[in-house]
Amino acid sequence: MEATTFVLFGATGDLAKRKIYPALYNLFIDQKLPQSFSVFGLGRREVSDEAFRASVEHSLRTFSRREVSDQEQLNSFLSGFRYSVLDVGHKEDYKKLLGMIEQREKELDLAPNRMFYLSVGPEFFETIATNIKESGLGATSGWKRLMIEKPFGHDLQSARDLNEHLSKTFEENEVFRIDHYLGKPMVQKLEVLQQSNPVLQALWSNRYIANVQITANETVGVEERAGYYDKVGAVRDMFQNHMLQLLMMLAIHLPKNSTSKDVRFKKKMVMESLEPLEKEHVQSHVVRGQYDAGSIQGKPVVGYTSEPSIPQSSMNDTFIAARLQIDDVFWRDVPFYIRTGKRLKEKSTRIVIEFKEPLKQQTKVNDDTRVPNLLVFEISPNEGISLQLNTRDPQHKGEFKPIQIDFHSIRSDVPEAYENLIHDALHGDPTFFAHWDEVELSWKWVQPILNAFQENAVPLHHYSAGSYGPAESDALLARDGYHWWFDS
Ligand code: BG6
Repeated sequence: MEATTFVLFGATGDLAKRKIYPALYNLFIDQKLPQSFSVFGLGRREVSDEAFRASVEHSLRTFSRREVSDQEQLNSFLSGFRYSVLDVGHKEDYKKLLGMIEQREKELDLAPNRMFYLSVGPEFFETIATNIKESGLGATSGWKRLMIEKPFGHDLQSARDLNEHLSKTFEENEVFRIDHYLGKPMVQKLEVLQQSNPVLQALWSNRYIANVQITANETVGVEERAGYYDKVGAVRDMFQNHMLQLLMMLAIHLPKNSTSKDVRFKKKMVMESLEPLEKEHVQSHVVRGQYDAGSIQGKPVVGYTSEPSIPQSSMNDTFIAARLQIDDVFWRDVPFYIRTGKRLKEKSTRIVIEFKEPLKQQTKVNDDTRVPNLLVFEISPNEGISLQLNTRDPQHKGEFKPIQIDFHSIRSDVPEAYENLIHDALHGDPTFFAHWDEVELSWKWVQPILNAFQENAVPLHHYSAGSYGPAESDALLARDGYHWWFDS
């Protein structure tokens, strides 16, 4: 792999400690980093190189999926780390950084390939991009790339503005918009599973599928992110990005040996085929919820508006469920139900595909005991695939007996999302990053919901912490004769 300088904005932040350093370390152990790899951590605080390396080591010992046991290996990993103070608005700091990077590139005879990773608040994105350009950091004879965390905009217009701004410094093929759900190993497998298994390929349409249910339930509340979360809600925090990305990854039909271009083209087609939601129809297709006090795994927890720094009067959504339709030849008339929320009964991200019931036939077996075939992709925290089939009950021969065919991965063997994403970006592979077209179409689809929420044009349904969300979310499916699977 080509030599690279990894320039990390927000090097003392939470994400860097929890995800980015452990990901880099595990890639290093797996020999998936370039031979010549140099990291410049940037932050506002004055920190020595030694103290920086010590804090990286601490984060590895706390958060790495693999234990840090080989000191020599660790030292060799850390030797590539440098720190530089940078105030994002200070042009001089960028100049100084450029000098340090060039010197290091010279010392190590590194090709001047630069990966800029923005692990900072969105309010800094534009300033940093401008300064990368104006300081000359971006004018390199090697490649330059930008990895950027969400949120990519606050609504359609702000996302467009941000994109236009970034495009003054980076071409679209240099921008790697992170949606960490696309880095989850099971999500990365969806494409291959469908493509390389004729058995699935044959079933992947409205001919056999009755409905699709995409769930991302969390047990955590707002934690220390009140200031951010109360402005965005579940719709911006999870739905516009992660949930719609899951929908795209599931619904695409890919040609054999497809390239990243094919994947992106097909994802865009899915988004373009999503039936748009008018503001006046938001109420019948979308459920907005907010948690009240309750208990999670036996522990009492407060309601959303009693959380620290959340205003008593907040109407913010901590839960959203929606019914979507893709109007194309494959998916016409198959409802896609999506739900996500905080303070729910269990942490679980999964996709359930419910197959149609064949016409009731004259069988010797009691039809009422038959269950629909279900194909389930468990995405996290556990990774697995299961298939529910009907067999005959040997005890009661007049009845069906459902059986599950199950596959589960062993967790410590599975790379973390950030390992996959950083690895791909270093290789310049954009397949599992959000293209601007997808981001724009997602905001476009979500915009009427944002408007309806803001104008309080839809009710805010309350649910107890530790439940599966408001009853209206069940009603959304019940209207079509379905229910959420695996709520117990
Ligand atoms: C983040 C959201 O993008 O995803 C968080 O900002 C959320 O609010 C998190 O908790 C969930 O990610 P995961 O990987 O734990 O499902």
